[in-house]
Amino acid sequence: MKDVLLDANFPRDAQGRTYHVGTKAGQVANRIITVGDHVRARRVVESSFDGGQALFEFESQRNFLTLTGTVRGVPITVVAIGMGFSLVDFFVRECAAVVSGDLVIVRLGSCGSLSSDAPIGSVVVPRASVGVTRNYDYFHPSTTAEERASGSIEPYTITKPLDCDGEVHDALVRSLQATLPPADPALFGGAPPRALGNITNASADSFYSSQGRQTSLFVDANANLAAVLQERVPQLQTFEMETFLLNHLAAAVDEGAKGGRIRTGAAQMVFANRTTQQFITPHEVDVLERWAGRAVCEALVAIDIAPERLQKEGVWN
Ligand code: URA
Repeated sequence: MKDVLLDANFPRDAQGRTYHVGTKAGQVANRIITVGDHVRARRVVESSFDGGQALFEFESQRNFLTLTGTVRGVPITVVAIGMGFSLVDFFVRECAAVVSGDLVIVRLGSCGSLSSDAPIGSVVVPRASVGVTRNYDYFHPSTTAEERASGSIEPYTITKPLDCDGEVHDALVRSLQATLPPADPALFGGAPPRALGNITNASADSFYSSQGRQTSLFVDANANLAAVLQERVPQLQTFEMETFLLNHLAAAVDEGAKGGRIRTGAAQMVFANRTTQQFITPHEVDVLERWAGRAVCEALVAIDIAPERLQKEGVWN
């Protein structure tokens, strides 16, 4: 039988487990990697955690998978959340509620590249991210053709760029560059894997419309969206669906109430190249996830968290 949930404002059970992610204090580390799917989460644990194993594992009814263990003795948690802003929101708010002190959160995710500098097989570390959301009112039946034509209402909203944490960015780039796999003629068209930093990312609220993908089934008004974004956002190189919201919640946290900071960053594996229409193979995904997963773990280990801002007790003791 399921535990009774207390408090309709921020529901938790009597042990303090949150409603969607389903974890409580001591089960989630201060250093977190969030990924999109369970296979990637388990691959990171198997290839990078001490002993290739998690010390704690929980799969919630809502499909969040939390795996906590250590990397060279340092506690790290991997949480598989799926994709998109709303799942980032559940994950960050619920983990922030059960982890005391600071949080360092890295998204290890896939992305689409808008640039020949970042072909499939590259891993890109954004310095900053903009949010791109569908403007629902543009598509509302009461909006007139004149309003649409005059540009007084635009089909997509583009936010100001929000920075990732500088130390997290630099640690990720260093760690990825230090562990670059050798070129393999059977992978990525024989091109050597690349790690690139200092770019800007766009996090969209759809894999399709707000990333400028074309379909005849829906009216999306996005034929020139990629071009508009590239004109308005300097250094824009990748599309994915999470980093902007991570940065937004890190900037929005009340540090006094939380008792610590949230620092965020991302390592984005290029699965799709929108300029060449190439898409990665499942075997290439495996190779890329193992390299990037190890590099992200090492970057997190290298990031300093003051002892008074670290949890003392957890499944790792
Ligand atoms: N993830 C995205 O959001 N877009 C892509 O093109 C690839 C991965």
